[in-house]
Amino acid sequence: MSKTNRVWRLRKRPVGEISDDVLSFAEESVPEPVAGEFLIRLNYLSLDPTNRIWMSDMDQYMPPVELNDPMRGLVCGTVVKSSHPDYSEGTIVSGLGTWADFQIGTPETMSPLGDTGPVPVVDAFSTLALVGPTAYFGLLDIGQPQTGETVVVSAAAGAVGSIVGQIAKIKGCHVVGLAGTDDKCTWIKNDLGFDEAINYRTQNVPEALAAACPRGIDVYFDNVGGDILDACLKLMNLKGRISTCGLISQYNSTEAIGPANYAMILMQRLRVEGFIVLDYAERYPEAITALSQWMAEGKIKVRTQVIDGLDNALESLKMLYTGGNTGKLMIRVEDT
Ligand SMILES: NC(=O)c1ccc[n+]([C@@H]2O[C@H](COP(=O)([O-])OP(=O)(O)OC[C@H]3O[C@@H](n4cnc5c(N)ncnc54)[C@H](OP(=O)(O)O)[C@@H]3O)[C@@H](O)[C@H]2O)c1
Repeated sequence: MSKTNRVWRLRKRPVGEISDDVLSFAEESVPEPVAGEFLIRLNYLSLDPTNRIWMSDMDQYMPPVELNDPMRGLVCGTVVKSSHPDYSEGTIVSGLGTWADFQIGTPETMSPLGDTGPVPVVDAFSTLALVGPTAYFGLLDIGQPQTGETVVVSAAAGAVGSIVGQIAKIKGCHVVGLAGTDDKCTWIKNDLGFDEAINYRTQNVPEALAAACPRGIDVYFDNVGGDILDACLKLMNLKGRISTCGLISQYNSTEAIGPANYAMILMQRLRVEGFIVLDYAERYPEAITALSQWMAEGKIKVRTQVIDGLDNALESLKMLYTGGNTGKLMIRVEDT
């Protein structure tokens, strides 16, 4: 086993876009697990928009990463040394860890990935660990789409959005997605079965949305906030639901921007509800069972964009904010 450990640490809180000096990447010694702990070697590191939130000290749903601490991330790794009776060497685990080759896990932070059946480990981790349950609960619990209703989703070719649209199709909805390139629009329409796709960078969004949603919008699954949220608010039907999943258009912003069409919440008696997928932790098995079955039946297709090398983590993270990714973005350090 290697004696050195490459670790990304938070050196500076980002202001605006993520710059190269917010994190450092250096070699350190490999930590030793004490009783109740185990040591994992990193296989995959999930890159998520929330990484930018954790780097900052904005109001958020869990404590931010402290300056000089290892960068926090969702990880999948293999136990290589264990001082915990239930975590033997070779067990593949996933959970909240750090951007480091080797790291300490406990049952509170990481749990066995278990038998992933026909789903490859990388897809099980990328889809079932976080973004699948996010799409599942955010759409079904909060959006409560009914057959024949119109569902709109932003960042529709991303990890969460691409699954949201496919679940909405399974539920018999008219599904409209917004994405930032023509290739992404072609993918969600032709391969994933969305009814309509709008390139929000090249099309007039209010006009294109009105054309794609002739019966108005019943459910808007919001991944981005900002102007797209405003355009959707304008078209919401009476008693419509907005599932506030993320606000990626705002994460690098240095000023708070409110929705101009806020009055529609009153006029159309809308329900707007934010959620954090961790709120649903106890119900994960329900989502994992449903998603695995839909994936096995070919009703949900997933795309994982894998980039090799822990050293590429910071540069790759930036892709989420510029639209450089399609599907789930992931760093591969070493295959399982
Ligand atoms: N609430 C929760 O528990 C939870 C859990 C997971 C994720 N999330 C949120 O869900 C959203 C999607 O996350 P994800 O992991 O699936 O990421 P993702 O969609 O795979 O990647 C982010 C995508 O956002 C789009 N984007 C970036 N800047 C944008 C802007 N200014 N306006 C519109 N679109 C923009 C880009 O696609 P384009 O090329 O289409 O612009 C990019 O590919 C994020 O807001 C994230 O914070 C929430």
